[in-house]
Amino acid sequence: MMPEIRGLGDKVALITGGSGDIGGAIAAGLADAGATVVITYVGAESLAEQVVESIAQAGGCAEKIQLDQRDPEAIDACIADVAQRHGRLDILVNNAAWNVGIPFPDLQALTPDLWDRVMETNLRGPFLLARAAAPLLKASGQGHIVNISSAGGISPGSSSIAYSSSKAGLNHLTRCLAVALAPEVAVNCIAPGLVEATRMANRLPEAVARGARRQAVLGRVGQASDIAQQVLSFVLSMSISGQTIVIDGGMPGAMR
Ligand SMILES: NC(=O)c1ccc[n+]([C@@H]2O[C@H](COP(=O)([O-])OP(=O)(O)OC[C@H]3O[C@@H](n4cnc5c(N)ncnc54)[C@H](OP(=O)(O)O)[C@@H]3O)[C@@H](O)[C@H]2O)c1
Repeated sequence: MMPEIRGLGDKVALITGGSGDIGGAIAAGLADAGATVVITYVGAESLAEQVVESIAQAGGCAEKIQLDQRDPEAIDACIADVAQRHGRLDILVNNAAWNVGIPFPDLQALTPDLWDRVMETNLRGPFLLARAAAPLLKASGQGHIVNISSAGGISPGSSSIAYSSSKAGLNHLTRCLAVALAPEVAVNCIAPGLVEATRMANRLPEAVARGARRQAVLGRVGQASDIAQQVLSFVLSMSISGQTIVIDGGMPGAMR
């Protein structure tokens, strides 16, 4: 018998980096399924407001909070703010990330400061968010964390060694948190390859994007809506935890 798929009507979701292309799509997808969504942004307040307004126009419920997730105290304050506003948190999507393009062989260009900025944003931030949110997610009884990683965390590639390593760390953090927060919280991860029509992807030379589409066995790479749909799929299930799923159109190099 097929399990009944319930909506997210009574759930509250926090999506970091909701002002970004993928975070905005995830927020819209969860709001569409009925969740109240809180998105974070660090500097792009007007982009965050656009996401909030477009969700409201579609009949959903959304709010924005400014958060620099390099700051541990700001993370605790953000979660406390969500708790005060809503009294609960059921879903945390660790989507925010920062990157800078440094060719892998140029080791000297990857300075300690850049390394730390990437790691603080992309790996320490998600851990501290999970740490701060854990009591609320556990209290939910059916809590979810979905981390947004990268195919670069599986096969060496993407914008820099630091970014690729931060995402590899996030993939393993997913497994560690799945053990740490069970059985009340499921923790999963999505590792996108190139995602079409995102600012991050648009910064790549067209030849790189063309190459990715050509290598993908399905002849296409991911869209932001594909990532949003997978987040929804994870948060509707309490039968999957500790998994990282790659969304890249099927790159032979990233198949494990
Ligand atoms: N786009 C792709 O092709 C692709 C491929 C693989 C993986 N991914 C992953 O997918 C996720 C979303 O990517 P995207 O393309 O949507 O990126 P994006 O449009 O550049 O959005 C990045 C988001 O992270 C936020 N952010 C950056 N630094 C932050 C900080 N210190 N504290 C808090 N928030 C911070 C940004 O806030 P502001 O808008 O306020 O600056 C923005 O909301 C990321 O984890 C990325 O690594 C993307």
